Amino acid sequence: MANPVLTDPGTFGYGTEYAQVIDIQRLGAIICKGITLRPRLGNPQPRLMETAAGLLNSVGLQNIGVEALIKEKAPICADWRVPVLVNICGETIEEYAELASMLDGVAGVSGLEVNISCPNVARGGMEFGASPKAAAEVTTAVKAATTLPVIVKLTPNVTDIAEVAQAVTSAGADAISLINTLVGMAIDPVKRRPVLASITGGLSGPAIKPVALHMVYKVAQKVEVPVIGCGGIASASDALEFIMAGACAIQVGTASLVSPRAPIDVLEGIQRFMEGEGIVELSELIGAARC
Ligand SMILES: Cc1cc2nc3c(=O)[nH]c(=O)nc-3n(C[C@H](O)[C@H](O)[C@H](O)COP(=O)(O)O)c2cc1C
Repeated sequence: MANPVLTDPGTFGYGTEYAQVIDIQRLGAIICKGITLRPRLGNPQPRLMETAAGLLNSVGLQNIGVEALIKEKAPICADWRVPVLVNICGETIEEYAELASMLDGVAGVSGLEVNISCPNVARGGMEFGASPKAAAEVTTAVKAATTLPVIVKLTPNVTDIAEVAQAVTSAGADAISLINTLVGMAIDPVKRRPVLASITGGLSGPAIKPVALHMVYKVAQKVEVPVIGCGGIASASDALEFIMAGACAIQVGTASLVSPRAPIDVLEGIQRFMEGEGIVELSELIGAARC
């Protein structure tokens, strides 16, 4: 990666949509929308709600399916300089392995992010990420099925995220990303009903930043592999906090829904900070805030 600024899956489409409005080639990498074996329509509406300083979503992995991704999107990504990683989600361990194997060697796919942290699906997703044993089993199966670099994306909806991080790194994860959304809900007082059709959703955006930052700080001290931080990053200052907590790279997510330029603004802000402080290598900042 040319720089540490990536896009979150689920808030940047397949990259192709944003390519029309920003210079995506300047990004460190793009992580495209969570992909499943078969196409999914996602959960019923309403499935998005803005909250104080955040967003609740219960999209439920709406996506075109892996075959369409390989046929229609990967050839476009193959012409880009920016690496594209595919976020994969299965209902079973075998499905994760099958997705990994199908994407191995596909031009335009530079790596995988294993989503064992989606809170909005009935089967798979967070179900695997909530157990260190199951998380490790998915990681082992994916690693055995691919030659691509494998990032495992963790859920914050657990008692000890560091335990899951250690389990997946022991199973061979090349890097870890955290955090996915925090389970939450909203109620309409007039209707006396939950706002989201799925009742619960995942909370993202600035509201979750302190939680995400603490988890990155904790996990980065427990694992040897690179840690990628995300959760509420909306400015260069936010990104620098994650880097100083121990992240080698960061992802910009919900902020891209507010301003499509957000990842570029974050990148330029990091560069300005480094120039101003006379810092040549990002490694001088990684983990700088550790006590
Ligand atoms: C609308 C929406 C869709 C998302 N879809 C995915 C997904 O497909 N796969 C995944 O791993 N995470 C998904 N996420 C979680 C984000 O990638 C990210 O982990 C989370 O939103 C926290 O970062 P943020 O506060 O910067 O958005 C989604 C988030 C939102 C808001």
